[in-house]
Amino acid sequence: MLSTTTRYTSRHLKRILVEPNSKMVWGEKKYIIAPSILSADFARLGEEVDNVLKAGADVIHFDVMDNHYVPNLTIGPMVCKALRDHGVTAPIDVHLMVSPVDALIDEFIKAGASHITFHPEATNHIDRSLQLIKNGGCKAGLVFNPATPLDACKYVMDKLDIILLMSVNPGFGGQKFIPNVLEKAKEARKLIDDNGLDCRLMIDGGVKVDNIKAVADAGVDMMVAGSAIFKSPRTVESYKETIDAMRKEIGE
Ligand code: DX5
Ligand code: ZN
Repeated sequence: MLSTTTRYTSRHLKRILVEPNSKMVWGEKKYIIAPSILSADFARLGEEVDNVLKAGADVIHFDVMDNHYVPNLTIGPMVCKALRDHGVTAPIDVHLMVSPVDALIDEFIKAGASHITFHPEATNHIDRSLQLIKNGGCKAGLVFNPATPLDACKYVMDKLDIILLMSVNPGFGGQKFIPNVLEKAKEARKLIDDNGLDCRLMIDGGVKVDNIKAVADAGVDMMVAGSAIFKSPRTVESYKETIDAMRKEIGE
């Protein structure tokens, strides 16, 4: 084991050791593509996830909605655990669109989540919720709605592995990309770089082959895409075609 890990820097090694639920994609890849299973066929979710991973996805984006914080209801920790039991070893990126968040953070840690992000206005104690995630060995992040400024980052920067910018209003897949988020992405990129943060800048909502380059140019390095990838004919080949086209657009 040691002989295979000594090739890595100590930063890499730290990532391996703190990522019990992830294979190594975090520090190795310039861009991470994270298909959102919100647009998958839920009647055959395991197969859909297997197929999108075979097609070259890096991470599975897992949208949790509670019909309270957002006007829609989706999936919870049992489904995350079911994917792990099914054999999914790729990182599972849990996006909590729920309020409150702390009890579900614990449940998702137990269910095998790799990353957990939440909306700052959905918890009374942002720092505590971030610490809960970190203590569970998961990567932690804050999610900002299109009209929400980045202010909540300021005093918790040391705990942020992900800043996630919503490029649609949360609640539904298949919405139109809100271009004003590109300005916010540039601001977030500057915040990350100026402070030397080891933090991914992620975007979620309306990302397609034809706008992913603008997103990358604004400094984003982790892209969620749901309806652009999970669509008919729902085969590995068709998912691969979209993911490959996205990577080509961003120069990979
Ligand atoms: C919206 C979700 C997104 C959504 C993205 O609330 O957080 O992850 O599934 O879907 P598309 O790519 O279709 O906008
Ligand atoms: Zn999402």
